[in-house]
Amino acid sequence: MTNNASHNSRRQFVKQGSLLAGALITAPLLSRANFFSGSDDVIKVALVGCGGRGTGAAMQALLSKQNVKLVAMADAFRDNLDKCYKNLNSDESAEGMAAKSRIDVPEERKFTGFDGYLKAIALADVVILATPPGFRPMHFEEAVKQNKHIFMEKPVATDPAGIQRVLAAAAIARQKKLNVVVGLQRHYQNSYRELFQRKDMIGDITSAQAWWNNDGVWVRPRKAGQTEMEYQMRNWYYFVWLCGDHITEQHIHNLDVINWFKGGHPVKAQGMGGRQVRNGKENGEIFDHHFVEFEYADGSILNSQCRHIPGTMSKVDELFVGTKGKIMCGAGRITDASGKTIYQYDRSKENNPYQTEHDELFAAIAKGEYKFADAENGAHSSMTSILGRMATYSGQVVDWNKAINSGLDLHPKVYDWNATPPVLPNADGFYPVAVPGVTKYV
Ligand SMILES: NC(=O)c1ccc[n+]([C@@H]2O[C@H](COP(=O)([O-])OP(=O)(O)OC[C@H]3O[C@@H](n4cnc5c(N)ncnc54)[C@H](O)[C@@H]3O)[C@@H](O)[C@H]2O)c1
Repeated sequence: MTNNASHNSRRQFVKQGSLLAGALITAPLLSRANFFSGSDDVIKVALVGCGGRGTGAAMQALLSKQNVKLVAMADAFRDNLDKCYKNLNSDESAEGMAAKSRIDVPEERKFTGFDGYLKAIALADVVILATPPGFRPMHFEEAVKQNKHIFMEKPVATDPAGIQRVLAAAAIARQKKLNVVVGLQRHYQNSYRELFQRKDMIGDITSAQAWWNNDGVWVRPRKAGQTEMEYQMRNWYYFVWLCGDHITEQHIHNLDVINWFKGGHPVKAQGMGGRQVRNGKENGEIFDHHFVEFEYADGSILNSQCRHIPGTMSKVDELFVGTKGKIMCGAGRITDASGKTIYQYDRSKENNPYQTEHDELFAAIAKGEYKFADAENGAHSSMTSILGRMATYSGQVVDWNKAINSGLDLHPKVYDWNATPPVLPNADGFYPVAVPGVTKYV
């Protein structure tokens, strides 16, 4: 085939694809032609959510060794978008300069507000979704509807209604053969992959432990002139509808590892939690510690703890206890029942999993391969963390099926800077906080 002929057939295929867009396509394995919406083989990327992680993920996409171009950006706030654009363009290293040459986002392809994502997604072959997780179900649904390949950050939702939306869209993404990678990067980290391959060395997993204990994260104090909606969007970590609480926002990484090695999610949970030091007005409604006992279908137990309290023990890790030994993920070590080391991961072989996520995703897309379907796992791990939160907020035993089918939807009906968010402060500026024994989990 001549270049022209190949070019024309690709254009024709893309045109055909866009005529089908929105309909459910039971596609054969997609040819390379499906993946490109332009006139050449450039893979066009749109970034939705231009904060810290969005900036990092965009950079990793640009450094993925494929013919990638960042063509559109969307953020709720113009100042955040501008900061991200500046940061992406200001790295003077050789890598940074290479990335810079792949950024093509003129003013007319920078979108702001609550609906900017619609326009950015339309311009791309691949979308990076990196807003606070409350928006993920809506953005993921749209990206799937528009037939895009997707990199989306964890968590993928903050409530059971959002989880159901992601699961439904994930099923359609599978039928359309859209690659979906979720930023649960331990799945793309060499040490975890090596340990996972060797998990049978410890026999059946009978219990596990997971920790995300550290000082906590930023606060973005209220500024004069902000509407309540803008304040909550800026200080999003402290509002459950946006963030999910820190058990969902960060501890999800550890819970996800346990589910991965166990080959499934828990069937129920009970636990305790509260807030002891992070209890100011600016700390919204979330807890600063949770301790949850998750039970899996085979009766095995995961003891999970996450704490954001300065001056306490810091530890982010996972441990498995099996009938024949233990796996210590952080140490990259497997021991037998007597405590003797039977496998030690060689740390010099560790990779940057954030980069590997993008290297593998974009290589698959460039080759026309359908290889990644991470959304269901992302949804189940997000739901595991939400189950834990429902248990600590209520103090009750929470059943997985009841929780995931509860319909609990924390989101506002209207997204607008003047709309009323789902949670409001009292006259003194404090937000309602869950009280175990009183708060209902549904
Ligand atoms: N995988 C990891 O290790 C890792 C690390 C950090 C963050 N994350 C995840 O990335 C996501 C973002 O975290 P971050 O640290 O970058 O937060 P951030 O606050 O730095 O960035 C979020 C950005 O999204 C924008 N935004 C908010 N609502 C939006 C909307 N409706 N439409 C468009 N833009 C919107 C904000 O204005 C902000 O610029 C979170 O889900 C977080 O859990 C993952």
